[in-house]
Amino acid sequence: MKTPVIIALDFASKAEVSHFLEPFNGERLFVKVGMELFYQEGPQIIHDIKEKGHRIFLDLKLHDIPNTVKSAMKGLARLQCDLVNVHAAGGQEMMMAALEGLEAGTSGGQKRPLCIAVTQLTSTSEEQMKKEQLIQVPLQESVLHYGQLAKQSGLDGVVCSSHEAAIIREVLGNRFLTVTPGIRLKEDAVGDQKRVATPELAKKAGVSYMVVGRSITKSNQPVESYQKFIHAWEGVQL
Ligand code: C5P
Repeated sequence: MKTPVIIALDFASKAEVSHFLEPFNGERLFVKVGMELFYQEGPQIIHDIKEKGHRIFLDLKLHDIPNTVKSAMKGLARLQCDLVNVHAAGGQEMMMAALEGLEAGTSGGQKRPLCIAVTQLTSTSEEQMKKEQLIQVPLQESVLHYGQLAKQSGLDGVVCSSHEAAIIREVLGNRFLTVTPGIRLKEDAVGDQKRVATPELAKKAGVSYMVVGRSITKSNQPVESYQKFIHAWEGVQL
């Protein structure tokens, strides 16, 4: 079975990543490298993690003018990650440019990385969206709109919260990926996230992948915590 959990490696150094991954004993994981790690360790960290056999979501959330995003994606494609992303708010032209860049940077015979769009961050509440972004429609409608824009641009899916995943699947189809951060077990701290959900709810909503960070990376027993998320998803009572 494919793992439903993408572990967010929100660490500042390669040493911390190695220390975290060690107890997983060579188990092949799907991990997310975000800004914190990538900005400090650079592209070499991707090669190091790939060498260990893990799949990688490179979460750099590109958002700039189309030409810049295209060039950046061309370079990132050479790292051969499995999944990359942009902000849907950058617009259709920017998203299409991202795909062009990825295709241009993928050598013959290789598969281009899948590309998904961030809709509304899971740390954004509807109230904040209305007040700060001046978007007056309900949050779910804004997320769906960004999803539609991403699909029209040819992207492979979106980052959204589990609360919007079901409507995205219903409207945009099962094959359009929904990758959902803000996942917490009932007993976990919410932190800065606003639109949180349990793995059980995420599964019911039909999400493709749950992104889990602190609940696993800050745990005293990360392997056990990782397994708790898998078991909760599978409906196994512990
Ligand atoms: O620690 P936590 O489980 O909240 O981590 C969630 C991860 O998902 C973080 O790395 C964060 O940057 C990322 N993320 C998010 N919301 C989005 C997109 C990415 O929380 N919309």
